Amino acid sequence: MTTLRIETDADLGRRNTLALPARAAQLATIRSLDEARALVADPRRRGLPRFVLGGGSNLVLCGDFAGLVLQAALSGRARTGEDAEAFYVTAGAGENWHDFVQWTLAAGHPGLENLALIPGTVGAAPIQNIGAYGLEVCERFAHLDALDLDAGELRRFDAAACRFGYRDSVFKQEGWHLSGRYLIVAVTFRLPKAWAPLTRYADVAAELDAAGVARPTAVDIAAAVTAIRRRKLPDPAAIPNAGSFFQNPVVAAEQAARLQAAYPALPTYAQADGRVKLAAGWLIEQAGWKGRNRGPVGMFEKQALILVNRGGARGADVRALADAVRADVQARFGVALAPEPIYFPAT
Ligand code: EPU
Repeated sequence: MTTLRIETDADLGRRNTLALPARAAQLATIRSLDEARALVADPRRRGLPRFVLGGGSNLVLCGDFAGLVLQAALSGRARTGEDAEAFYVTAGAGENWHDFVQWTLAAGHPGLENLALIPGTVGAAPIQNIGAYGLEVCERFAHLDALDLDAGELRRFDAAACRFGYRDSVFKQEGWHLSGRYLIVAVTFRLPKAWAPLTRYADVAAELDAAGVARPTAVDIAAAVTAIRRRKLPDPAAIPNAGSFFQNPVVAAEQAARLQAAYPALPTYAQADGRVKLAAGWLIEQAGWKGRNRGPVGMFEKQALILVNRGGARGADVRALADAVRADVQARFGVALAPEPIYFPAT
């Protein structure tokens, strides 16, 4: 028997890293696949709108939710396979991402070190294909298992089925992250045995240089990434935020060339498809928003791409600031910024 507990009128304010206030009519903490199956089979829950919550670190809560929130708390991590080229490690969707990365390193399986200290859970990582310092999680992804909450069946998604893109996957493309279609149960990563340090990213190279590390180990890289993140990015426990608030915009090569001619300092990154990614943080800073507040929210003084809650903000305050920043960047540079976090409930 499972002992599934359902909380009513649940507080979501302490379950999102922007600390925005909201309540859910019902909230179920899911600790096992059995609990998830029991919930799906329960006729009292049928027809209720659903939403799956992980660490709440990529979320703008816009108001109360009259449905059922599933808090994914499935735990466990283990090495689950090996072939000639790689080790495979699997973690429950509710595991804390950074703790999991540290665990892989302690177990002697490098490969995820560039993604150290990213907030959130293992289960949320593939949904927006988290990335940092020259690595995206899709490059270390084997497959994930998700419970189809409509059909009650477990489904395996390999990398192709996930349709990964920059901060994007099939879960976002199909709107499943908003409709609560799937509960990701566990994620399996492929960590190649032939390891090479990824130190292309200028900040990482500079950090290792400053520490006098010439031949970095994976643990050295994790330490460097952790130090950079601590310096530049606000700790959500101290200053509520959701990481980068906008995606770095990807524009046509001609538009990037025009902008670079006008603004030679604009950071640009050539993409494999010929388009060019621009640094949203730079655009926002140039538009005058770095360190500037609007009501109880503002753009962070050390990294203009991070929207922070200075205290007491609601979802509407976040939306108003995001819209103002977006309008100014559009007017000044002709570039449209798209938010990275999910607005929920959608309005
Ligand atoms: N920049 C500015 N002003 C700012 C912020 C940035 O001029 O206020 C410039 C920097 O000087 C640099 C460039 O913009 O030349 C890029 O900045 P940074 O290296 O800090 O990275 P980012 O592009 O702002 C992205 C990811 C982060 C990830 C870092 C490191 C996105 C939306 N953000 O930020 O991911 O940690 O690279 O790889 O892709 C997240 O997605 O939540 C996130 C934090």
